[in-house]
Amino acid sequence: MDQNHWYEAGLGHIWLPYAQMKTMRPPLPVAGTQGCRIVLADGRELIDGIASWWTACHGYNHPHIRSAVERQLASMPHVMLGGLVHEQALTLARRLAALLPGDLDRVFFSESGSVAVEIAMKMAVQYGLNRGERRRTKFIAFKGGYHGDTNGAMAVSDPDQGFHDLFRGLLLEHFILNLPVGDESTAALDALLSRHGDTIAGIIVEPLVQGAGGMRFHDSATLQRLRTMADRCGALLIFDEIFTGFGRTGAMFACEGAGVVPDIVTLSKALTGGTLPLAATVASRKVFEAFWSDDPKMALMHGPTYAGNALACAAANASLDLFEREPLLAQVAALSEQMARELALCQGRGGVKDVRVMGAIGVVELEKIDDLDALRARFVEEGVFIRPFGNVIYLTPPFTISPDELTRLTSAIVKVIGP
Ligand SMILES: Cc1ncc(COP(=O)(O)O)c(C=O)c1O
Repeated sequence: MDQNHWYEAGLGHIWLPYAQMKTMRPPLPVAGTQGCRIVLADGRELIDGIASWWTACHGYNHPHIRSAVERQLASMPHVMLGGLVHEQALTLARRLAALLPGDLDRVFFSESGSVAVEIAMKMAVQYGLNRGERRRTKFIAFKGGYHGDTNGAMAVSDPDQGFHDLFRGLLLEHFILNLPVGDESTAALDALLSRHGDTIAGIIVEPLVQGAGGMRFHDSATLQRLRTMADRCGALLIFDEIFTGFGRTGAMFACEGAGVVPDIVTLSKALTGGTLPLAATVASRKVFEAFWSDDPKMALMHGPTYAGNALACAAANASLDLFEREPLLAQVAALSEQMARELALCQGRGGVKDVRVMGAIGVVELEKIDDLDALRARFVEEGVFIRPFGNVIYLTPPFTISPDELTRLTSAIVKVIGP
C-alpha cells in the first residue's frame, strides 16, 4: 500500500499514547529505521535523540539482533511457559542472574515494564503473606517517580503525574514521600516508618534517576539510606531499573553503580535492545525462598500469556552478546563527556534552570515550556527527533551514536533554546 493510502486510511482508527487526539499535530509517518536514524515516509531522516523511549541502546536494526530473531522465528516464535520452558528463556534468565549483583537470581518474565512492576508489587505483598505478615499491603514510593500506567504502577507513581485525584477510587493509596535526599526528608520517612513500618510491603524507587517524572538525579547515599530503612522495618527494597538498566546511567545497572543491592529489580526497555517487548522481575534468593513450599497456595499466581516469548528472549540474548563483545559502557562514558561539554553551552541562557548529565542521559531543564508540541516540531525542522516533556528537554541517544550525530542533537538544542 502506498504511504498516502495507509496513512489516510488508518489514522481515523488509531488511538495514540499520551495524545489529545483532537488537537495533536499529525504524527510523522515512519518508513524505516537505521542505526541512529528514523527515516520518514517523505524521505527525510531524523537523528534520534530518544532511542524509542530509551529502548534502542544499540541503535536500530542491529544485524546481530536481527539475525538472532530471524533464526528463532524459523524454529519457534513462541511457546507458553505454563509447564514448558525453552532454551532462550532459560539462557536469558541465567545470564541476567549472573549480571545482576548480589543474589538477585530468580527471573520472572512478562511483556511490559508496567506489568513487571505489578508483579514486583504482588511478590512483595505475598512475600509478607507467605511469612504470616498479613498487614504488609502498603508501599512507600516517591514524588517525581514513575513506574508505569497500569493501576498498581500508577498508584506508586507521582500523585500529580499519575493523576491520583482523577482516578481516586480506582487506585489504592500508598505512602508517597519526598526522596530522602536531605535531613528533613529523611526525618519524614523515618517518622512514617516508626508509625506504619509493619504495614509496609516494599519501598519502590527508580535508582539514581527518576526518568519520566522529570529526569531528576539523586545519589547512591540516598539509595543506601533506603536500604537501611527497608531492612529496619522488614520491607522489601524494589529498584525499578526499567529506564536505568543496561548501561543508561553509565554502569550496567544503576544498583551496581550505586553499590546497593535491592531485594527485587524490574527490567524492560533496553532488555531486547529495542526490538521486541519483554520485561523481567528479578527476585533475590530470600524473596524466592518465601514462595518455596509444599503448599500450592504459596506459589506466585501470575502468568502473562506471552511471558518469556522466544523471539523476545532471543533478541535479549543477542543484546547481551553485544554488551559482552563491544565496549558499550566505554561508549556511554565518551558520549556522557561529550554531552556534558556540548550541553554546557545552554547554561546561563534565558529560561534555562539547570543542565545535567549522567551516563547517556543529558538534560536541559527550563523554567517552563509553553507549547510542547511546537517545540517538538521545531526539533523536527532541525532534522532531529527530540521529545521534551514537562519542563525538560532531554537526550537518551543510542549508545552507538557517532560524535557527529550527537553534536547534531546537542547543537539543535542549543539553537532552539536561543540566546
Ligand atoms: C522506570 C519505569 N518504570 C516503568 C515503566 C513502564 O514501562 P512500560 O511502558 O513498558 O509499561 C517505565 C516506562 O517509561 C519506566 O521508565
